[in-house]
Amino acid sequence: MVLYSALALLAIAGGALAQDAKRGLYVSKAAGCLGCHTETRPNAQPYAGGRALATPFGTFFGPNITPHPRAGIGRWSEQDFIRAMRLGVRPDGAHYYPALPYASFTKITEADLKDLWAYLRSLPSSSRASQPHELKLYVRWRFPLWGWKLLFFSPGPFVPDPSRNASLNRGAYLVQALGHCGECHTPRNWLGAPKKDRFLAGAKLGEKTRAPNLTPTRLKKLSDAELKDILRTGMTADGDVLAESMAEVVQNTTSQLEPQDLDALIAYLRSLPALPEEPR
Ligand code: HEC
Ligand code: HEC
Repeated sequence: MVLYSALALLAIAGGALAQDAKRGLYVSKAAGCLGCHTETRPNAQPYAGGRALATPFGTFFGPNITPHPRAGIGRWSEQDFIRAMRLGVRPDGAHYYPALPYASFTKITEADLKDLWAYLRSLPSSSRASQPHELKLYVRWRFPLWGWKLLFFSPGPFVPDPSRNASLNRGAYLVQALGHCGECHTPRNWLGAPKKDRFLAGAKLGEKTRAPNLTPTRLKKLSDAELKDILRTGMTADGDVLAESMAEVVQNTTSQLEPQDLDALIAYLRSLPALPEEPR
């Protein structure tokens, strides 16, 4: 009896997940998968899709990635999933739009992808149909995406830099691969590709929204403790609440990181070359 209720409690706490799925849950948080694949309305089923993502190219809708055989990705193999994340290709060979941030996710390690897959397999399935994206005419076809990839996409897992210690490498991995921070904080060229030599130098996201410079040029004004507070609470030292897109990153990702991972992430940001602000 005692054993039974202890088991029930464990199941509620997510303890019923197998070890790899449990690690995958943590990877999904560090990578912020939830937000783009879940509607914003209350009680929306996680990962059942329908989240609208506005971009200069039109509106994308994050698809259903629960294990439902037709509405979701229930018929996929682990290899299909690894190819999608590593190479940005659909099981039928079509190219994904970089609205799925595979330019960052390509850097996720094989082990983390396998754990992530185990976690996605453990989700309750949903029959909610994914809706088509609403894109501008000139980007409606997927085939030209191979050209974009040829120019701007270099696939392959993160390679630790032997001149950096383990913590800095972990921080680099959290920022570049899982956290995909550059997707918002790195300025893009007119074809929507991040400018490599301006990594994390800050970018204009909309009429009024800017993702600030995350290199030491700006962050040196904040202490580690202040930066940690911002990334845990979504509030700045002056009590300002961060803009919606970053508030979501804080809620889903940075506030969920284990303390040593948050330390590593901050240490890595501090180690970046100080780049000047992007001209407005
Ligand atoms: C910034 C938003 C965003 C984030 C973050 C994101 N995705 Fe997606 N994802 C998308 C969009 C948009 C598509 C559809 C792309 C397309 O149609 O070309 C997609 C497609 C997919 C697909 C293919 C589904 C299908 O039916 O073909 C999978 C699998 C997937 N995402 C898994 C993940 C996982 C796992 C994570 C976290 C590691 C993640 N996504 C994070 C936006 C996102
Ligand atoms: C979806 C877009 C997006 C992503 C992804 C994103 N950010 Fe942000 N971030 C923003 C925006 C927008 C702001 C500005 C918020 C404001 O000024 O209210 C911001 C602000 C910040 C700030 C506050 C800086 C300051 O000087 O006040 C920090 C720190 C930060 N982001 C770190 C990160 C890290 C680390 C990651 C990756 C784990 C990340 N961001 C990913 C959009 C994003």
